[in-house]
Amino acid sequence: MPKAEDVVFPRRERFEDRRKEGDQRKLLDQFFDHATLLAVSRLINQGQFDAIDYPISSGKEGGVFRAVKGPEFRAVKVYRIANTTFRNLPPYAVEELRREASARNFGGLIFAWTRREHTILHRLQDAGVRAPVPFGHFRNVLVMEFIGSAEGAAPRLRDALVDDPAALYEDLVREIGRMVRTAKLVHGDLSPYNVLHFEGRVVLIDVAQAVASDHPQARALLERDIVNFARFVSHLGHPVDADEFFRAVGGETVGPPNAAE
Ligand SMILES: Nc1ncnc2c1ncn2[C@@H]1O[C@H](COP(=O)(O)OP(=O)(O)OP(=O)(O)O)[C@@H](O)[C@H]1O
Ligand SMILES: [Mg+2]
Repeated sequence: MPKAEDVVFPRRERFEDRRKEGDQRKLLDQFFDHATLLAVSRLINQGQFDAIDYPISSGKEGGVFRAVKGPEFRAVKVYRIANTTFRNLPPYAVEELRREASARNFGGLIFAWTRREHTILHRLQDAGVRAPVPFGHFRNVLVMEFIGSAEGAAPRLRDALVDDPAALYEDLVREIGRMVRTAKLVHGDLSPYNVLHFEGRVVLIDVAQAVASDHPQARALLERDIVNFARFVSHLGHPVDADEFFRAVGGETVGPPNAAE
């Protein structure tokens, strides 16, 4: 069994800032229970990364951490095993997951969810969508491409400074359009919180709840997300019509077969 401090936040600098150290201690306790530490060490043994470096974000369902691998970085998403409720997940997603996983116990559900995010990221890569490259997963831990630079993680679109909203709109149409038309997936929770802004372009993240574009709910989900995004881009100073946006990403092809008849 690896010692937590050897693989998670092992850098000596952490002792320089006592308050930060306390925060990290809390995160260690919250996310890296015994089973999760074993999963982390398994991924380290596979050569996925050398150590977990620092937290990028910690939410109710999981945390995202930067990891180091030689001179490079990785992003490591850890779904909480303890205290996860899936309360924030849409019921359709949990339903689908239960079918997919045939998982009877709760841990199994979380592992299936982690695998699902990995699989969907793969499909997005195959379709040429800008999303993190998935590198591997084990149990409740997913390793993917780190979106950002040595200075830090890329900001969420919500927090980014967008100087060309018209170009942003074109970029969103291209990436969401690829997701819908080529990957045949609807994200299901697309918002400026789940899109990163990196090197002037968008990167779609947080994809575990995505559904196939012929899913009964797919159209309604896409409509909702497009309406919100149309408002967001319009607020940035580039007026966007939601119906036009919806058509531009191939929205009319989304929905169960024969639904239009
Ligand atoms: N590959 C990545 N590279 C860099 N940063 C990332 C990456 N993936 C996620 N992040 C950061 O972590 C945050 C949370 O990731 P994500 O949206 O996938 O998880 P979540 O389950 O929705 O967590 P939360 O509830 O905090 O939103 C993102 O908003 C982003 O800032
Ligand atoms: Mg998110």
